[in-house]
Amino acid sequence: MKGGNYELITMDSNRGSFGSQLGVILASAGSAVGLGNIWRFPTEVGRGGGAAFILIYLGFILLLAMPVMLCEFIIGHSARSNAIGAFQKLSPGKPWVVAGIMGVLGGFLVLSFYSVVAGWTLHYTVQSALGQLQGLQTTDNGLQATDYGLSFNAFVSDPWQPILYLAVFLLLTHFVVARGIQHGIERYSKLMMPMLLAIIVFLMGFSLTMPGAAEGVRFLLQPDLNEVTPEVVLGAMGQAFFSLSVGLGCLVTYSSYFSKETRLVKSAMNVCIIDTMVAVLSGLIIFPTVFRVGIAPDAGPGLVFITLPNVFNLTFSEMPIVGYVFALLFYVLLLLAALTSSISMHEICTAFISEHFQAERRRAAVVVTFICLLLGACCSLSFGPWQEVTVFGRGFFDLFDFTVTKFLMPLGGLLMTLFVGWYLDRKLVERELTNGGTLSVRLMRPLLILIRWVAPIGILVIFLNEIIPLFM
Ligand code: PFF
Repeated sequence: MKGGNYELITMDSNRGSFGSQLGVILASAGSAVGLGNIWRFPTEVGRGGGAAFILIYLGFILLLAMPVMLCEFIIGHSARSNAIGAFQKLSPGKPWVVAGIMGVLGGFLVLSFYSVVAGWTLHYTVQSALGQLQGLQTTDNGLQATDYGLSFNAFVSDPWQPILYLAVFLLLTHFVVARGIQHGIERYSKLMMPMLLAIIVFLMGFSLTMPGAAEGVRFLLQPDLNEVTPEVVLGAMGQAFFSLSVGLGCLVTYSSYFSKETRLVKSAMNVCIIDTMVAVLSGLIIFPTVFRVGIAPDAGPGLVFITLPNVFNLTFSEMPIVGYVFALLFYVLLLLAALTSSISMHEICTAFISEHFQAERRRAAVVVTFICLLLGACCSLSFGPWQEVTVFGRGFFDLFDFTVTKFLMPLGGLLMTLFVGWYLDRKLVERELTNGGTLSVRLMRPLLILIRWVAPIGILVIFLNEIIPLFM
């Protein structure tokens, strides 16, 4: 039997909801735009040889991640429930609920390790505001030098400091989520996203006018297909899923708060466009500046915490005010991006706990924040005193990152495309895609082909390619 009784489901909607279409787009784009765009994307681009990686990435966004996003929207918007509840409503007693369970579990894990990096960002924001990131330090032998690699490693391996920043960041996230959908998530997304977009455009203008910017732009926009290896392809899919926040039911949860009139296809396209734009613009901020000081672009995760402070410092020594503003705005940008995303991760878990256990939202949010603080502390310690503690050969941070991005996201995405493409009642899917028949059906055929065939086959092939070698 096909699942999903549309009439019954749409009537049961006595929950919070977004107040406007702008709120829908900004909150969803806020979830998508995050450290993934500004920290992870440039790192992957640097490792994957620049423009060639971007081309593959764009293909994956369009063919795999965007269809998964649509499936999440269809599931959440029709069921009006949290990530687990939605599957229970649409397919009672069926094993599809596993996709929701994996999502909520993934929500806890991703928020925990993500908040660690967000905590570092908070630390760098404070440092740059106080002017402590710039300027030369005098070392013991009287030489003037600033080793950002050393100071970064000293900070992240400290047992307490990063945990303190992690806690503050989690509390900020908690504050927004506990206030609910319209007064919390929507309101703060409407405040933070325009700020974020304005800072990005400003910094890009800044970065592109610096001497030597052309080389960085060329790296970003001129594909060199020789750089494309199987790992680059696998990395591009992981990045596409992570960047669009798909596969964990985050967008199932958000779309359960969309109004009945929200256009799912249009919203999904807008979110994909904003997210991709921000990723490319971040590249246009980072690479021209990196090439300027002649540092290799594949510097890895240290890119924004080690390489960029060097760049800011150089700028600072030539033009102090410019260097100060550039550094501060950059870390504020990163912090805003992290916050709008962490809110959405928190909401996956809070929505589940408050609905499943019929707990007050504030209480549910406290439970989530507390659990993630504990798990996040484990991740943070894995850079310092717990470096030697491993599970399946990985430290906690690595383990959580790996489990979410390599397992839960692709597998969740695969299950959701199969669920919508093959299990759900076709009429329900069509009604969701066309807003109850009021929108053009022109796009429906190609979208259904993407959801039923292209996305699941593509995800499966790439997933197996990635997983099988691990067990050989
Ligand atoms: N899309 C976010 C980013 O690019 O930073 C990360 C993310 C948010 C992943 C929400 C998963 C999620 F559920």
